[in-house]
Amino acid sequence: MPTATISDVLRQQNIGSTLEVKGWVRTFRSNRFIALNDGSCQGNVQCVVDFESFSEVLLKRVTTGASISVTGEVVASQGSGQAVEIMVKKLEVLGDCPTDSFPLQPKRHSLEFLREIAHLRMRTNTFGAVMRVRHTAAFAVHEFFNDQGFVYLHTPIITSSDAEGAGELFRVTTLPADGAPKTDSGETDFSKDFFEKPTNLTVSGQLEGELGAMGLGKIYTFGPTFRAENSNTTRHLSEFWMIEPEMAFHDLQDNMDLAEAFCKAIIQAVLDRCKEDLAFLDQRFTQEEQGKPQQQRSEQGLIEKLQFVVENPFVRCTYTEAIDILKNSKPNKKGQFKYPIEEWGADLQSEHERFLVEKHFKSPVILFDYPAKIKAFYMRLNEDGKTVRAMDVLFPGIGEMVGGSQREERHDVLVEKMKAVGIDPSHLDWYLDTRKYGTCVHSGFGLGFERMVQFVTGMGNIRDVIPFPRTPGNAEF
Ligand code: 4AD
Ligand code: MG
Repeated sequence: MPTATISDVLRQQNIGSTLEVKGWVRTFRSNRFIALNDGSCQGNVQCVVDFESFSEVLLKRVTTGASISVTGEVVASQGSGQAVEIMVKKLEVLGDCPTDSFPLQPKRHSLEFLREIAHLRMRTNTFGAVMRVRHTAAFAVHEFFNDQGFVYLHTPIITSSDAEGAGELFRVTTLPADGAPKTDSGETDFSKDFFEKPTNLTVSGQLEGELGAMGLGKIYTFGPTFRAENSNTTRHLSEFWMIEPEMAFHDLQDNMDLAEAFCKAIIQAVLDRCKEDLAFLDQRFTQEEQGKPQQQRSEQGLIEKLQFVVENPFVRCTYTEAIDILKNSKPNKKGQFKYPIEEWGADLQSEHERFLVEKHFKSPVILFDYPAKIKAFYMRLNEDGKTVRAMDVLFPGIGEMVGGSQREERHDVLVEKMKAVGIDPSHLDWYLDTRKYGTCVHSGFGLGFERMVQFVTGMGNIRDVIPFPRTPGNAEF
């Protein structure tokens, strides 16, 4: 007999059919009702045992966390909690679970505690829901780009370039930690290293993505990226997944349009396909919000928030307009910003971004035309000579969801920009070649996948939307 998923059993409500299900026991109550979950959906199937038909020894082994196989008939439920249940004819314990040491007892555990037992937390309602939503979002990413004729390009994980020029690199080396070979001037001799040059884990696939776009037209990447920044926040990971589309013949306007459509498509897919998990997460979100001071509470519920974002156009606002708004804002005048906004050119901190999105516009916002000084070298310089065609998409509760730009396509300007920030153009001659041979206007952006999963699940901490988070001081599992 083929094993049915609990999701199918609950959805199909095939009364009268006999089937087998396998899963992990959530609870076993009154020696009669087993709540069984197999991860296929939020709900448990209730398996009803007639204790007189089974040995006491066997039933004692049906403990929270044990894996079991159940065969029985689907019947209309007598109880009110569920439409159908399974009358158990055959019961087998596949894997015992000792009650005294199993850390996941059927009660509410804190997210902090669950992070310590991340190897088991996918058996909880919360992490089951988050991981299924994460899957749906990832699938929607591929669907969105595939439907629009983008090519999925696999850019390298190990690279010798620092795309963002921020220097937050994890070195990749096979040289011994002690006694690495030295050059005459006493520095590590990377010519003796595996790749015969210094290499690191990628911080972004963008530069290679641009090479793809300059031949294939429209590409996207979706892979892990690595940043050795010492940011212990609820929005930073040392290893996170990023989606980076890159499009030839697209200017900044086209780029903004695509970013907005992309964000909405992911959210819509989750709204359409994860109704049960979202209903659970929505409830959870509301409970969490109630624990916060009134002022910090979200005015909308989770599902309401997602619907609002898909139904309304994102606000578009230049950096210069944003600075004016911030300069004249109440928190700035009252000295409530940690970093007061004094003049044009200031880098925006997350407190500023959140003010704009959550208090001022009350909507996702696309900020564009930033000062060249605070953005990466590859962004297209505007005619004013001081701003670049950069864009950031800011989301309520999250801050920066997307960062991107139109790229500098003019060879001479790009070389000057590299020199100005201390990048040796000869190190990126392959990148410059695209500007030498048939250059064109092109654009792209990067979306931090975990930040999107955070938004759609309403989870407060980014460490709770990736199975095994890597953060400073933590690479468990
Ligand atoms: O703004 P970033 O640094 O942009 C780039 O890497 C560009 N090369 C993208 C491009 O134009 N192709 O990163 C892009 C996004 C951010 O907006 C944020 O959502 C996410 O990646 N991100 C992080 N997410 C989790 N943890 C971190 N440490 C992150 N750093 C950036
Ligand atoms: Mg950025």
